[in-house]
Amino acid sequence: MTEPKKLFIKTYGCQMNVYDSERMAEALAGSGGQGYVTTDRADDADMILLNTCHIREKAAEKVYSELGRFKGLKAEKPDLKIGVAGCVAQAEGEEIMRRQPLVDLVVGPQSYHRLPELEAKARSGEKALDTDFPEEDKFEKLKRRPKSARGPTAFLTVQEGCDKFCAFCVVPYTRGAEVSRPADRILTEARDLVERGVREITLLGQNVNAYHGAGPDGDMTLAQLIWALDKIDGLERIRFTTSHPNDMTDDLIAAHGECDKLMPYLHLPVQAGSDRILKRMNRSHTAESYLRLIERIRAARPDILMSGDFIVGFPEETEEDFQATLDLVEEVRYGYAYSFKYSPRPGTPAAERAHVDPAEADDRLQRLQALITRDQRAIQNEMVGREVSVLFEKPGRLDGQMVGKSEYLHAVHVQDAQARIGEIAKVRIVDSGPNSLAGERV
Ligand code: 5AD
Ligand code: SF4
Repeated sequence: MTEPKKLFIKTYGCQMNVYDSERMAEALAGSGGQGYVTTDRADDADMILLNTCHIREKAAEKVYSELGRFKGLKAEKPDLKIGVAGCVAQAEGEEIMRRQPLVDLVVGPQSYHRLPELEAKARSGEKALDTDFPEEDKFEKLKRRPKSARGPTAFLTVQEGCDKFCAFCVVPYTRGAEVSRPADRILTEARDLVERGVREITLLGQNVNAYHGAGPDGDMTLAQLIWALDKIDGLERIRFTTSHPNDMTDDLIAAHGECDKLMPYLHLPVQAGSDRILKRMNRSHTAESYLRLIERIRAARPDILMSGDFIVGFPEETEEDFQATLDLVEEVRYGYAYSFKYSPRPGTPAAERAHVDPAEADDRLQRLQALITRDQRAIQNEMVGREVSVLFEKPGRLDGQMVGKSEYLHAVHVQDAQARIGEIAKVRIVDSGPNSLAGERV
């Protein structure tokens, strides 16, 4: 028997890319694919795929420097095929082919169901490039997910693309217009995952709460989809990300209070606290409307842990605007938050505007991160003494230790030789470290 070919995928960027990488590996695997098995070593691979992200600066440069490092490997192994996938591929595919002759294959985020044909083309010695936004739905064309065992948590993309056109963001250009998958396909995929041992599913979308996929009686909302998933036996936890404040509908807020499987964690980016900047960002909500929204969410689910994204140094942001961001962070008290220095993205409206002095932007980023870290640590420390539920995901570094996530997405270490991966245990938190909690089984 000949050895199966080996595929090494390196994933950059968001969780949607993590999901796409899994599906790409499945598309190239076993029957109907090209017979690849995955490897975690690039030097062992017959094909290397970089699944790239274009959201912030230097992404493309990182891809080129990573590609350059494969030169030696390719010289040793002329049959090695090198591909670039994801949003940099979408935005700069032809340029990549021109600039880096090592690259055999380029595939965008909307056409990777065609990977088997592209791989065959690359194997025959031709360059293969596909950055279409095809008519057909790639998820319909991909094979049903395999039945092999896997870890207890999984991502499931339910919606892709975005029609919001925030002035700083490339997503509407690289991922395209907002499209929701039909509910029955999502439910089938979820059941397949649960059969493989999955107990927690995170529903993904660039604008996941704008979900409006076809259901049995017309379009469904994200809340209706969550209630349909709630009925799947063996699925114990549901999460979703990333949401837009304008799409937090009443039924979704209510689900946070009423659906036991829906975890008390919500990633709800606001980006900035100044209404002037929000308007220039084309966000179509204000700081005040965002704060009132969080009040309503907390009324439905008082213990919900809030998470967010921020951009500092957006064009024309003044110190006063930035203060408004700090004020908003103080008021919300985020359990997690991600902050970024504004990075001009070619082709987006904000890229043309006057930029904030980079040193000033760096300074603001540091001040914001210090505030976020303070709240994050405090909220983590407040967990000590509380009882949480932990889904065990993998053994810890110490003997007899297990690591999992609480309902609030905190990493929790538990010393328990009996603990099994995939088990959900009641745990009392006894200690809080910089990046994780320690607990004891109750
Ligand atoms: N510059 C900096 N941060 C950005 N984000 C998106 N586009 C940019 C940009 N051009 C951030 C936003 C978004 C997160 C995924 O990345 O905060 O919510
Ligand atoms: Fe980008 Fe999110 Fe704005 Fe859409 S809503 S344009 S994905 S930041």
